[in-house]
Amino acid sequence: METYPIGAKSVWDPISTDRFMLGAAHYPEHVDESYWERDAERMAAAGFNTVRLGEFAWHIFEPREGVFDFDLFDRAIEVLARHGIDTIMCTPTATPPRWLTMNYPEVLRVDEQGRTASHGSRQHADTASPVFRDHSRRITRAMADHYRDNKAVIGWQTDNELNTTSPTSYSAASRRAFQVYLEHRYDGDIGMLNHAWGGDFWATAYDNFDQIVLPIADAPGHCSPGHVQDYHRFLAAATTAFQKDQIDILRAANKDWFVFHNIGRQDDIDFRGSFCEDLDFMGYDVYPALFDELRRSGGMGLSQAHYLDKSRAYAGNFIVPEQQSGSGGQPPFATLNPEPGEMRRMAWSSVARGADGILFFRWRPAHFGAEIYWNGVMDHDDVPRRRYHEAKAFATECAALKDKILGTHVRMDVGIASADFDNQEAHKTFSMGMPSPEQDGAVMHRHCYRNGISCGYIHLDDDLSRLKVLYVPHWPIWDTRWTKRLHEFAEGGGTVIVSSQTGTRDRNNHVLRTVRPGEGLSELVGVQVEEFGRLAGPDAEALFFGWSDSSDPVLPLPTESSERRYNFKVGNQEYTAAHTYELLEVGQDVDVLGSWSNRFAEGRAMLTRRKVGRGAVCYVGTHLTDELAARLLEQDLLATQVMPLVPNLPQGVEVSMRQGEDYDLLFLMNLTADKIIVPGVFGALLVGQEDRTHEHGEVHLGPHGCAIVECAKGAGA
Ligand code: GAL
Repeated sequence: METYPIGAKSVWDPISTDRFMLGAAHYPEHVDESYWERDAERMAAAGFNTVRLGEFAWHIFEPREGVFDFDLFDRAIEVLARHGIDTIMCTPTATPPRWLTMNYPEVLRVDEQGRTASHGSRQHADTASPVFRDHSRRITRAMADHYRDNKAVIGWQTDNELNTTSPTSYSAASRRAFQVYLEHRYDGDIGMLNHAWGGDFWATAYDNFDQIVLPIADAPGHCSPGHVQDYHRFLAAATTAFQKDQIDILRAANKDWFVFHNIGRQDDIDFRGSFCEDLDFMGYDVYPALFDELRRSGGMGLSQAHYLDKSRAYAGNFIVPEQQSGSGGQPPFATLNPEPGEMRRMAWSSVARGADGILFFRWRPAHFGAEIYWNGVMDHDDVPRRRYHEAKAFATECAALKDKILGTHVRMDVGIASADFDNQEAHKTFSMGMPSPEQDGAVMHRHCYRNGISCGYIHLDDDLSRLKVLYVPHWPIWDTRWTKRLHEFAEGGGTVIVSSQTGTRDRNNHVLRTVRPGEGLSELVGVQVEEFGRLAGPDAEALFFGWSDSSDPVLPLPTESSERRYNFKVGNQEYTAAHTYELLEVGQDVDVLGSWSNRFAEGRAMLTRRKVGRGAVCYVGTHLTDELAARLLEQDLLATQVMPLVPNLPQGVEVSMRQGEDYDLLFLMNLTADKIIVPGVFGALLVGQEDRTHEHGEVHLGPHGCAIVECAKGAGA
């Protein structure tokens, strides 16, 4: 097996560190200085060693253009350092101050309706604006120069959750930057661009790059997928360039600093590509209550696991710069409140899925501003209550185990192809109301999560050799090199499952002119797709029932119509299909494992397997449903050898495994408020002792309780 490209980070990479960062995002500028000493004492008593400071304090660092003042933060850093707490400093570019937006209004974002962003919230400046980039470099340089010799400042976060409030801007600066980007991308050849965007369709060709406009949805119709795809590639490139300015300055100032970014909303950033390249590791902000309620993913545990696994695919293990510690609110909403024990459980779930450092959000809640009800470790009245005690319990346990945890990676038996920017965007440009690759992959992930099967997301250029099963959820844009990698994976004994719609478009987002799936995939799977169609009955939601947020991991299925229900059979079991059907022409050396069982498709293959080397390559001509995902992993069907990490895992328990060179760590987390006994777990209990009846191989988990068990290598399933 060929290894992943040199230089790229891998899902299997731990962070190279011997420090497990424990602490909180902290805002000393929000309280009177008389709090600072007590805060630092309490943090130290809780076992904290790190805080993150300054991401929204540009107006304090530079109160007037060119006038810098680091006094407040210098004193705050010094107080914390005296108590053994180091600082991660942030570039404060998410909140340019008022003097900047007054003096340089051209830096403001413009939305699709042409409204210019107003001052008064955050992320109002356009990262593609050259003027804003100048200011970003200036403040970064001033801060880097000031802190270069401060031993308490150990690393940096760039900006804050880039693109989370809004990734797009339709400003004049963005339009110009888009034109420049395209001129570069197409080597100054407008003919190439017209070809890529399909200029002969609806007379959308351009005479030169200066004529190019930003794609605006529904104004009045739909733009070409090529145009939209390139706009999103541009946004990703602009965000990377904006960050790179800062990274270069920080690295030049002090080569010992680590630099990372905290991922928020995952839009218009090519995390696994150029964005990560210059970072030491990634940060991922964890808000299980927020994401679950926003996205209806089916439980805070599942929601958290999905996003953590997805984020790990970008660059391996990560830190959590913001780990939800209490309920959260902004003016229009308030999330559910984590129950007693749940904050600690959520923190352990993050570690179980790859966190090598955890900072809670936030040390204390604000008393003013747009997040006054976003709770922190401390309460508004400065009394340490249950959240403080849970943070302390977690930090104490974690510090004791840090040498066992650091250096290990998360086990994955089932890998789901993910983290490919072009494929994610290609779907958005032409979704036809169907689930995105991420939404389809999330069905497989959900099945594994609920059944205790180790699973996660992985890019196809990454090291696939440690997986048992690789599921490829309809990646439309395909590269022949992935065909080769899938082939090698199967030859080595793995099972590949390729889903419908994979390998149907080229890099320009044009539909291929060859048999589908293209780029050698058809030969590998032994199948040709003759026809495809969408499945949604006449009484389903309307055609434009848009899957507008393609990163929502759970989709409501279209309402079924008995008239237009399409069924298939695997063995004697009949299932109802969702979203799409394909009719397959099957090669001679291919076994048909499932067939359509009604209507005009009756008898045609929909699930196939071709043996390749010691493994197999399968093709499934529809999107996943929960039932189909479950069936695909049953032993009798594909002989995948995928077993749960713990046999007979009770419902409501999350399980994950981190693997070291000569030991494994099994993490068990109780997602419920009931006591649960997990049978069949042997090994040394590292966390959760008071609840355990070890002789019987049982782990007793209290409400929201956690256990960590050290197992000898290979002792598990
Ligand atoms: C994050 C953000 C924080 C804070 C938090 C709670 O996305 O980085 O600054 O706003 O959400 O809303």
